Amino acid sequence: MMTSRMTSLSSIELGGKHVFLSPSYDAGARHAGDLIGHEDVLRTVLAAWQQQPGMPPMAPLLVGPPGVGKNHIVYELARITGKRLWILQGHEDVTADDISCAVRSSDDPTRKFDYILASPATAMHEGGIVLFDEIGKMRPRALAPLASVTDERRTLFSNLLGDGILAHPGFRFIAATNSVDLDAEGLPDFIRSRLQPVIQIGLPGRREIGRIVRSRFERIGAKDELMSQFWRLWDAHRDGTLPSPRETLHVFGLAMGLADVDAGLTDEATDRVMLMVQPRHLEEAFLRICVNTRATT
Ligand SMILES: Nc1ncnc2c1ncn2[C@@H]1O[C@H](COP(=O)(O)OP(=O)(O)OP(=O)(O)O)[C@@H](O)[C@H]1O
Ligand SMILES: [Mg+2]
Repeated sequence: MMTSRMTSLSSIELGGKHVFLSPSYDAGARHAGDLIGHEDVLRTVLAAWQQQPGMPPMAPLLVGPPGVGKNHIVYELARITGKRLWILQGHEDVTADDISCAVRSSDDPTRKFDYILASPATAMHEGGIVLFDEIGKMRPRALAPLASVTDERRTLFSNLLGDGILAHPGFRFIAATNSVDLDAEGLPDFIRSRLQPVIQIGLPGRREIGRIVRSRFERIGAKDELMSQFWRLWDAHRDGTLPSPRETLHVFGLAMGLADVDAGLTDEATDRVMLMVQPRHLEEAFLRICVNTRATT
């Protein structure tokens, strides 16, 4: 219901109007694993975000295939900087109002409308980080307001508020896109030239993938034979490419789920840490996720 949602949001006075803020994304509370590797990426973004005389903090763009860790890198940046994070999920139907401010009819009898500051505008006001995720999927028209956000003006103009929102000095901008979207559609030059540096996020190597799996799943822990089995299956079925961390985590997650189900464990069971994942569980999970077929043995 609109009422309960609205009353749980904090609000401010802006341009003489009562405006609700969008909630930030608490990655720490929802995200289990540590970020493995990518120290150079973190270092580059933190350097780009440093305030230098006469120029605004830069607005980096992370580019990489699906499931490679772009979001996870931004969650880690929020953790390191101690800033709150707001995420705008880019898609074809995002409009300028989704970036700045939207208006809805109010349930409060004393007001006709509720103004809701969108995630990017809230991050600017609060001095947090905004992630423009999947920016390559957004239309140039929706991206136009970003020109003044990412250059020295650091201002977002809202038609509804009839005013510009000047960014708090702590505000930082980052964008991410899938390499395929970027190649297919490209980004308009006015925004491309403002998103710097462009940081390519490549698929991690086998050692890194092993570290990601071990750090995420206590149960796999030192069981190197399961990791070796994974690579044997990968070489047999998907030779010549590398798995993404997401794909690999799905395989091991499903293998553990299969082990749980075979042992008759329910969702609430807490004693699964010692439960053995058998090679047959891993093989079945691998075939389902990476080959999209069913184990026949
Ligand atoms: N280096 C890493 N260390 C730990 N976990 C990782 C790492 N890279 C990816 N992951 C995990 O892999 C999964 C996918 O990562 P994430 O969602 O960040 O990818 P993405 O690049 O944003 O993908 P998409 O383009 O589809 O949005 C998440 O569970 C994430 O925690
Ligand atoms: Mg992502």
